[in-house]
Amino acid sequence: MNSIAQKFQEVFGHPPDISAAAPGRVNLIGEHIDYSEGFVLPFAIQDCTFVAISKNDSGTLKIASLQRESEILEIPLADISPSRSGDWEKYVLGVVWALGVTSGLEILIDGNVPLGAGLSSSAALEASVATALNSLFSLGHDLPTLARLCQRAENDYVGMPCGIMDQSVSLMANDGSALLLDCRDLSTTNISFDVASANLELLIIDTQAHHELVDGGYAQRRASCDSVVAKLGIISMRHLSSEQLNNNREKITETEYIRARHAVTEIQRVLDAVKALEANDFVHLGALINESHASLRDDYTVSCPELDCAVNASISSGALGARMVGGGFGGSAIALIKASEIEATKQAIEKAFSDSGFVKPRFFTSLPSQGARVL
Ligand code: GLA
Repeated sequence: MNSIAQKFQEVFGHPPDISAAAPGRVNLIGEHIDYSEGFVLPFAIQDCTFVAISKNDSGTLKIASLQRESEILEIPLADISPSRSGDWEKYVLGVVWALGVTSGLEILIDGNVPLGAGLSSSAALEASVATALNSLFSLGHDLPTLARLCQRAENDYVGMPCGIMDQSVSLMANDGSALLLDCRDLSTTNISFDVASANLELLIIDTQAHHELVDGGYAQRRASCDSVVAKLGIISMRHLSSEQLNNNREKITETEYIRARHAVTEIQRVLDAVKALEANDFVHLGALINESHASLRDDYTVSCPELDCAVNASISSGALGARMVGGGFGGSAIALIKASEIEATKQAIEKAFSDSGFVKPRFFTSLPSQGARVL
């Protein structure tokens, strides 16, 4: 029996019917463009959320999480509705709801994706539950469909207007590769991402910051993009060139112009990053990562002092590139660093944080890893 199945047995007194795992993610490049039908280049980290599930005919869901130290939550099936208030269990209920599962269930969650670090612990939770239920009930959904159902759970049940990147990479990533995801049709290409053979390492810096703007700021950015799309009569930012944007500048507000400039340039940077990786040109990749951060900081304005501090300290100590990842306003940054300089860089970042009076950051590294699987 695997470890999550054993823990399930301890909590519920019998073995589960199924267990599954799904990873968190880091996005190499392609930020805030998944909801604009752009390209993104994330990879799955080694850390996973694990779930074990059994079905029963009790008419209730019993849910426990070993991360939350709470007792077992017991929720009548009839109460599963987006209007039910709740906490972390909303992500689980949302997936049950989106997949249309109507059986009583016992569900145990465990995992090691750092919570609140911008590494998509919520998408990992959704993807693990979706993977297990898809198999347990022989629903036959393919991975893109499961990703859309997980996104629906988060958009319509939890109420967070996220894009499709995090759920897709958690479900579809592969060992050793970043996942080039076309957010228009969810087609994917594995792009080999082997920093070690170039004597590099990708450092993940969790700033431990979490600013108020997280949810409202995200929705506002999406709304700006939607407004540009409507005013310019295009299908999405994917259909906008820099030239067209500049020629139509007077039709949109200045804020909308700089938001759109981020989207248009970031989509191109992702395609350029793929070429750089295919040519093993990590110096160019680093430059694109730096440009991405500048665009997120200055045009999209989703960075924050802690993220900028992590990025600046990394670059000052010799990183090839560094940038914030994820939604922004806190969470994590990444830095592409020579393996021999990793300790010195961490110390420089810690010092910069301490000099600025910020909470001590946490550091992780991770190889690109496999997406969700039944265990
Ligand atoms: C969050 C969202 C994603 C994506 C990123 C920004 O992680 O969940 O859909 O929009 O922010 O790239």
